[in-house]
Amino acid sequence: MSARSQIRSHITHLECSLSGEPCGHEVPTRLNPKNGKPYLARYDLAKAAETLTKDSLAERESNMWRYREVMPVIDPSYIVTLGEGFTPLQHAERLGKHLGMKSLLIKDEGVNPTGSFKARGLSAAVSKAYELGEMKLTMPSAGNAAGAMAAYAAQAGMEAHVYMPKDAPMANQLECVAYGAELNLVDGFITDAGRISGEAAEKHGLFDVSTLKEPYRVEGKKTMGYEIVEQLGFEVPDVVIYPTGGGTGIVGIWKALDEMEQLGWIGSERPRMICVQAEGCSPLVDAYKKGEEFAEPFPNPKTLAAGMRVPAAVGDFLVIRAVRESGGTALTVTDDQMVESVRNMSAFEGIFPAPEGGATLSALELLLESGEVNRDERVVLLNTGSALKYLDVLGPALGF
Ligand SMILES: Cc1ncc(COP(=O)(O)O)c(C=O)c1O
Repeated sequence: MSARSQIRSHITHLECSLSGEPCGHEVPTRLNPKNGKPYLARYDLAKAAETLTKDSLAERESNMWRYREVMPVIDPSYIVTLGEGFTPLQHAERLGKHLGMKSLLIKDEGVNPTGSFKARGLSAAVSKAYELGEMKLTMPSAGNAAGAMAAYAAQAGMEAHVYMPKDAPMANQLECVAYGAELNLVDGFITDAGRISGEAAEKHGLFDVSTLKEPYRVEGKKTMGYEIVEQLGFEVPDVVIYPTGGGTGIVGIWKALDEMEQLGWIGSERPRMICVQAEGCSPLVDAYKKGEEFAEPFPNPKTLAAGMRVPAAVGDFLVIRAVRESGGTALTVTDDQMVESVRNMSAFEGIFPAPEGGATLSALELLLESGEVNRDERVVLLNTGSALKYLDVLGPALGF
């Protein structure tokens, strides 16, 4: 028996993220039918802590499945993986110096398979769907998630249907076709794509893996939180800056921190979680600023950062809650600021970030200026994807 197959998942059940109501994890599940809110996976963390120790990690595979005890797949033979995760947490020395900071770090998710952090969520969700016998998948996507789903579905021999706005980046459209998915371009926003994908699921018996409407994509994304803490020698940074569309990453990182406290890896300390959105699409920032718990849909969203062009999110209250509980904040940046930051992150660090990644640097600059972040704090920027997936959008913006 390989070491991998001796480590088991300690998933126990799903739990409604709003009401706390439990639900079994043995059958394919989506939203809580009573309130339309997401379920989150829960684990027996005391049991998990017996084998998922800090020392045990030294021997494990360098991808996100190293945290197997707190991942949802029970039989490891169903894990569909392209080696996603365990991405570099780069000490951004030159950029930090430019900003007068000592401890600036960039988690570079652009090196993931399919060029973005969406690989994590989709490796988890496709694996779990595979284990539960769902072989025909559908999803709405701003672009990167569709590419990731199509790649993992290809590896597992599953059928993949994707619905994305017709102005999604060319790379995302092309990769879906190359991976053998059925590509449907929608004349509208991701919310329209979501409605159409949902209808297709009903009509054709497909399993819809829209983020947070399906409980396991967030389990993949939470591994970013595990990795940041592990890569910092089991310390928690002061600030995490996250480019937010639907917000699954913030929800996941926040969940990981709670789990790691229960595993005994960290104490009650938490980073301030910073939610960055585009000025042209800021439903969560607006709700946060108004003191609301839920967000109103944002009319006519417009930004070149396709992943942040999400006018309404099913996990809105979870993102806003994480930001508030952490003592963080939410703010917007303009497309011009993002493009300038794409240039700076590239030229100072050799990381060519997606515009979403650029947004985190623009946000940091604003927060340093306002004094909400101090120059001596340890700050992590999440570069969620590679600029190589946005050449058609970024080329003209960079004057190329
Ligand atoms: C590169 C990139 N960054 C950020 C996001 C937003 O992610 P989340 O849904 O976790 O807010 C996306 C979503 O499509 C993305 O593709």
